Amino acid sequence: MEEEPLSYEEAINLAANEMCRFPLIEVQGVPLMNMIAEKWSLISAFKPDPTDLLVSTYPKAGTTWTQEIVDLLMHNGDADACKRAPTVERIPFLEIQAPPPIPSGLELLKSMKPPRVIKTHLPIQLVPQGFWENKCKVIYVARNAKDNLVSYYHFDRMNKTQPEPGPWDEYIQKFMRGKLAWGSWYDHVKGYWRAREKRNILYLFYEDMKENPRREVERIMRYLDLSVTEDVIDKIVQLTSFKVMKENPMANYTFIPKIVFDHTISAFMRKGEVGDWINHFTPTQSQMFDEDYARQMADVDIPFRTSI
Ligand code: A3P
Repeated sequence: MEEEPLSYEEAINLAANEMCRFPLIEVQGVPLMNMIAEKWSLISAFKPDPTDLLVSTYPKAGTTWTQEIVDLLMHNGDADACKRAPTVERIPFLEIQAPPPIPSGLELLKSMKPPRVIKTHLPIQLVPQGFWENKCKVIYVARNAKDNLVSYYHFDRMNKTQPEPGPWDEYIQKFMRGKLAWGSWYDHVKGYWRAREKRNILYLFYEDMKENPRREVERIMRYLDLSVTEDVIDKIVQLTSFKVMKENPMANYTFIPKIVFDHTISAFMRKGEVGDWINHFTPTQSQMFDEDYARQMADVDIPFRTSI
């Protein structure tokens, strides 16, 4: 008799002890988890189907939220259908690699038929060429640098697969110098911004989603050439509110064992707000960050908002 394949949850429980704070190795100048760097040639050779959709973000910009909106739109707002599995299984993370028997993103993708929704944190220059050759749709979500940085800091505290965040003051420096996993926030948001017209990328902002989630859900719906009723839109807005997603075990990452994601240090669904940076940056840190930001972002005009 053939054995049932392990669920993601079972697999991660089996390998939880092997999850450690993986060191970063640069791939084309971008620091990535060592296991990703080691499998880089396989990852960059990935061939998507033209019907596949890529959801791309710098880490902590609102990936999970957008994944949930997309999944619900594709299932006409059916909450049960979107609880079929945790986010990682429904929408594989293209480049992620983990100790066996945890399936890699590539392995999960292999087991799924297109059209698939695929998550990535890769900066645009590292996105496998196949996505552009096949003219795949891409949704990019960007979040203002200060809130993104705060969220990443807390995530690195609770996520034992990421390097130690170290003290807050030093973490700010690492962010500014592009030394965190997946590299420079500045290059990331600029890369997708500059390519958005040529590559038909839907470029969204976390702040816009908070300000008017309905408008942004509709924007995503139109981009995906879907059409759902007003009632379904309302339902999707409600199901993807921070409060509801925080309680949804298929979206809040609580299935990951505590030695990997320690929600008692900081919950994955932490605050979900715009402007929390103000509770973290001292006035001196804020000024120093803003001056550096002005230099790093001088060559582009992306309408980020640090408050709404
Ligand atoms: P905070 O740490 O600021 O709370 P990602 O999914 O890219 O890892 O991003 C995680 C961030 O998005 C976290 O930010 C998380 O709380 C926030 N988030 C997740 N779901 C959300 C939702 N439905 N509404 C608003 N923010 C959400």
